[in-house]
Amino acid sequence: MEQGEISLSEREFSRIKERVYKVAGIALSDAKRTLVVSRLSKIVRSLDLGSFDAYVDYLERGASAEDGQEFINALTTNLTRFYREDHHFDHLRGYVGNLIASKPRGTRLRIWSAGCSTGPEPYTIGMDMLAAHPELKRWDFKILATDIDTAVLAKAARGVYPESELAGLSPERARPFQRLADGTVQVPAAVRELIAFKPLNLIADWPMKGPFDAIFCRNVAIYFDKPTQGMVFGRFGKLLAPEGFLYIGHSENLGSGGDGFRLVGKTIYQSRLGSKREAA
Ligand SMILES: C[S@@+](CC[C@H](N)C(=O)[O-])C[C@H]1O[C@@H](n2cnc3c(N)ncnc32)[C@H](O)[C@@H]1O
Repeated sequence: MEQGEISLSEREFSRIKERVYKVAGIALSDAKRTLVVSRLSKIVRSLDLGSFDAYVDYLERGASAEDGQEFINALTTNLTRFYREDHHFDHLRGYVGNLIASKPRGTRLRIWSAGCSTGPEPYTIGMDMLAAHPELKRWDFKILATDIDTAVLAKAARGVYPESELAGLSPERARPFQRLADGTVQVPAAVRELIAFKPLNLIADWPMKGPFDAIFCRNVAIYFDKPTQGMVFGRFGKLLAPEGFLYIGHSENLGSGGDGFRLVGKTIYQSRLGSKREAA
């Protein structure tokens, strides 16, 4: 045990797992035990509580919304990067190019990054689409980026990153970032303006009506169990435009949520409504 860490009994670990599953749908495996201890010990100490049992009691018996949020923020996994799984952006570029060729200026184009973490995914979408299709400046183009974790959303909204996060990007992809005096880099304003960052729990109610032309939900459902994955993917189908696409993570599949979709590329799905329309 590292200094400052509090011991975690099996029973306490089960209570924590139950809570994060109930609130966020996150199914913590036993392998996450060390992570739970290291991330939550600091919070338990700052609240002057002596044990994880006392902490879960506190969360269950009327802790503030901020305390509940801090618990969730501590247990999410936020790994992400710019141009991750970049075959998705190649596909999106082609799709958006076809839309531009077939629809008038000013047409509505909506993309949702669900589980956006600190922002590289929605920013990649915005940067890549504007670079490939400058005509989008004259379209009604907006990106919604949501996450359950409010701490990552605050970082995402600033769009400021250590320069090391651009490592591995080609000079062409790194060029649009603005170099700030303190050595960090910022996503250009024209891209930041396209994106609305909002807190949203994927297993709770969704206020948006859609339709979305594309939904990215990558490396998020991997933390859910099969029934929750199926439920969330099924709900995406209802918010997607008939010819729109759903992009999921490299190790994910739609499971029981896949009925309304057909696979059109590596981890790329289109609503079956769209394929019927194409065939008609
Ligand atoms: C590993 S990151 C993936 C980021 C990005 N989509 C990517 O592929 O690079 C997973 C994100 O899912 C979010 N998440 C986990 N459970 C969620 C839920 N119930 N509702 C919304 N977001 C959730 C986490 O907070 C985290 O930021």
